Amino acid sequence: MSVRPRTRPPVPAGQAPGQARRDRRDNRLGILISGRGSNLQAILDRIARGRLDARVALVISNVADAPGLTLARRRGVKTVVIDHRQSASREEHDRRMAAALEAEGVRLVCLAGYMLLLSPWFVRRFAGAIVNIHPSLLPAFPGIDAQRQALEHGVKIAGCTVHFVNEDLDAGPIIAQEAVPVLDDDTPATLAARILKLEHRLYSDAIALVLSGRLGLEGRRVTGAGRARTGRTGMQRAARRSGRG
Ligand code: GRF
Repeated sequence: MSVRPRTRPPVPAGQAPGQARRDRRDNRLGILISGRGSNLQAILDRIARGRLDARVALVISNVADAPGLTLARRRGVKTVVIDHRQSASREEHDRRMAAALEAEGVRLVCLAGYMLLLSPWFVRRFAGAIVNIHPSLLPAFPGIDAQRQALEHGVKIAGCTVHFVNEDLDAGPIIAQEAVPVLDDDTPATLAARILKLEHRLYSDAIALVLSGRLGLEGRRVTGAGRARTGRTGMQRAARRSGRG
């Protein structure tokens, strides 16, 4: 049986289901960050170029001086700092985030370098409506320092993954992946930079797919996303640069 993932938050208390239906075509994103914000920037750029039919309604950072906040403000995007250290528990923190996101009518929550684990409460509240980008070919190398983990393990192919967020770390159903080669002289920094270029494209592509409402979910398998990129062009480019292609 094919079940569509819910790509919008539940109807808030007191709101008629019909109202939710009227909002179906709405493409408001809420982006959670903790730092640099280059994926946020890539999404904003894609929207500005008219190549992603979405609007960033709110950027939330748990870190007050995250560079991504400055970037968002410069682009006229509403931002809010919700410092997790000011909440007694992760759920309390996440309830504050949910209230801010729902006040903006956010349909899809995008984690973009957000360094905190979400509470089960938040994941259930936005079931099927939270996506994350991770700099490895999941399920390999979840968690922090994924590129260093990949190098140390000695894999020959690395990459990035966009996935729905469930209650486990970097473990939700996979929407899109793209691969790059690992080169002999790579450091965590050079590998991260090569992967990041892909991330900037892949994340917007995956967001567009989710917003299209065309995706289905069969067990863990996300259907309707089309053929995965094999990373052929990225790999060829890197091989050429390293004089091996
Ligand atoms: C990216 O590598 C992303 O995959 C990971 O955190 C990093 C965030 O980078 N989840 P930025 O803040 O988007 O530049």
